[in-house]
Amino acid sequence: MKKLSVITSIILMVGIIGYVSSCAPSAKITAKTGAQIWGENCIRCHNPASPSTFSDVQWDVATLHMQIRANLTPEEATKVKEFLQAANN
Ligand code: HEC
Repeated sequence: MKKLSVITSIILMVGIIGYVSSCAPSAKITAKTGAQIWGENCIRCHNPASPSTFSDVQWDVATLHMQIRANLTPEEATKVKEFLQAANN
């Protein structure tokens, strides 16, 4: 009986720690630059288009479209868009 309650409390503690830490956004990911996010994600499905391929307005649309395809957060997609638009000028 005692053994069972020790095992139960260990399982409970692991569960609580796992639940709490899984909800916090990873600082490593949020600290990434637009160039890093672009390099790691935008080559997964197709060759990456050069920044000069599209105008700033076209990049607004394409990054919104690819935010969904690449499953990026709005913050990540904004960083990628700003990187592409800055490299375009
Ligand atoms: C999960 C696969 C996938 C990822 C990841 C992905 N793309 Fe795409 N991309 C596509 C597909 C598929 C198309 C063709 C259009 C369509 O069917 O949606 C496309 C089309 C495009 C186009 C053509 C214009 C348009 O909007 O259709 C651009 C530019 C583009 N991607 C840029 C990017 C950038 C920048 C990223 C990184 C943020 C990215 N892609 C990540 C799958 C992906």
